[in-house]
Amino acid sequence: MQFSCPSTPLAEWSGDTLGVGLFQGETGERLEALEARFGPGLQALLERQSFKGKPGDCLSLTQLQPAPLRLVLVGLGEPGRFDLEALRSGAAAIAKAAGPGKELGLALPSEGLEPRSAARAMAEAVRLSLYTDQRFRSEADAKPIPELVSLLGLAEGAAGGLESVAATCAGVELARQLVAAPPNVVTPQALADTAAAIASEFGLELKVLERADCEALGMGAYLGVAQGSSLPPKFIHLTYRPLGGSSRRLVLIGKGLTFDSGGYNLKTGGSQIEMMKYDMGGSAAVLGAARAIAELRPAGVEVHVIVAACENMISGEAIHPGDILTASNGKTIEVNNTDAEGRLTLADALVYAAGLEPDAVVDLATLTGACVIALGDEIAGLWSPSDTLAAALLEAGRSGGEAFWRMPMQASYKKGLKSPVADMKNTGPRPGGAITAALFLQDFVPAGLAWAHLDIAGTVWSDKGRGLDPAGATGFGVRTLVEWVSGGGAA
Ligand code: BES
Ligand code: MN
Ligand code: ZN
Repeated sequence: MQFSCPSTPLAEWSGDTLGVGLFQGETGERLEALEARFGPGLQALLERQSFKGKPGDCLSLTQLQPAPLRLVLVGLGEPGRFDLEALRSGAAAIAKAAGPGKELGLALPSEGLEPRSAARAMAEAVRLSLYTDQRFRSEADAKPIPELVSLLGLAEGAAGGLESVAATCAGVELARQLVAAPPNVVTPQALADTAAAIASEFGLELKVLERADCEALGMGAYLGVAQGSSLPPKFIHLTYRPLGGSSRRLVLIGKGLTFDSGGYNLKTGGSQIEMMKYDMGGSAAVLGAARAIAELRPAGVEVHVIVAACENMISGEAIHPGDILTASNGKTIEVNNTDAEGRLTLADALVYAAGLEPDAVVDLATLTGACVIALGDEIAGLWSPSDTLAAALLEAGRSGGEAFWRMPMQASYKKGLKSPVADMKNTGPRPGGAITAALFLQDFVPAGLAWAHLDIAGTVWSDKGRGLDPAGATGFGVRTLVEWVSGGGAA
């Protein structure tokens, strides 16, 4: 899919489909231009079809003369509320309604928006909303998608925003593919293979620590989780080094549970055990981001991507509820619940990350059902003791089109993790469960290191699809990470 920002006036556009966004109650110039092109009956038709310009309103019509052209009109809502997110929704709605055709034109307003951001938002919305995944069907039935997409009527310089689109979308799509693939396909080895493929295609460094290497480093928490599975764990460390040296070192950690059965605290009815292939959504996000960053090659930042990949399974080898594990920083953990496994793998990953002496560390994890209850499936939780890093990530999310909400690191809740026998337990009480999970992780981060934890348990998957996410895996996190890293990784 190729994008461009031509200066063709709307009335002269001659591709297969023209998509136009209209505000609620819009009259005036743009509507007149449309009437000039499609005939004076257009406004009356909109009225008859009760198209009001509300978000979700969509109307298509076909003109046969002088040349066949399909017109898709979508509502953009109130002009006073127009922002990048409304623009993304409008562009995605047009893309989904456009139907077959090689050339798609989009005429959407961009008043009040930075032209490059507007172009990027539209292009990403079109490409990402038309993504389909036919890998696991014996007969593919993918609909054709446009080859050429023109973004019409944008201010000069807008095309500059298109430069990062292909790489970013490829990163999001990689993450979606990893998350959507079943647990018998995306195994810890498959995650390591994916990292190897990125490394060789874009010239990154890759180190994969095997079980014995992790034992030598004392990663008892991570290995404890992995020990019930017959698939060996893979501790993945992928490094991007910019040309010309770097002034900042950033670490991105992703939870990489390729399946989470819960272990002996087995996930029972209603706990969505059959969906736990997506428990590697954090690793998918950081690998997708690595893929994008490796292609975009931002200057001045060194990026380390870490995934402690494994499965949480049941067997004679598996940890028992009540086992005490020792993490690589020497802390002992009483495993009072084997289903709180993500934080055990992240504990050793965080200790390893701190050893790289970074300027900032961000972890992404499908960590708690409690976060899903708190924020639903459109907003991820963000915990950070650093106001600067929190603000930078919130802003990166806003411009990338992913929603986060900063949550409290309520220090007094730490007492919920007190163990009568070890340094700590791995789970506290159910209320505030997403907060105690973040507090647990904080114990493995040296004081003073800028660190943020993103709980993406709700946002990695969308049952029905929304905005530019088709139903299924969303690839959530990639756009925020790419944005944050490209901006220098402020913390
Ligand atoms: N992978 C799950 C969290 C999860 C739940 C993600 C639902 C997506 C949807 C995690 O490993 C887990 O099982 N967490 C437990 C923690 C509890 C035992 C303290 C949970 O949230 O129930
Ligand atoms: Mn679990
Ligand atoms: Zn899990």
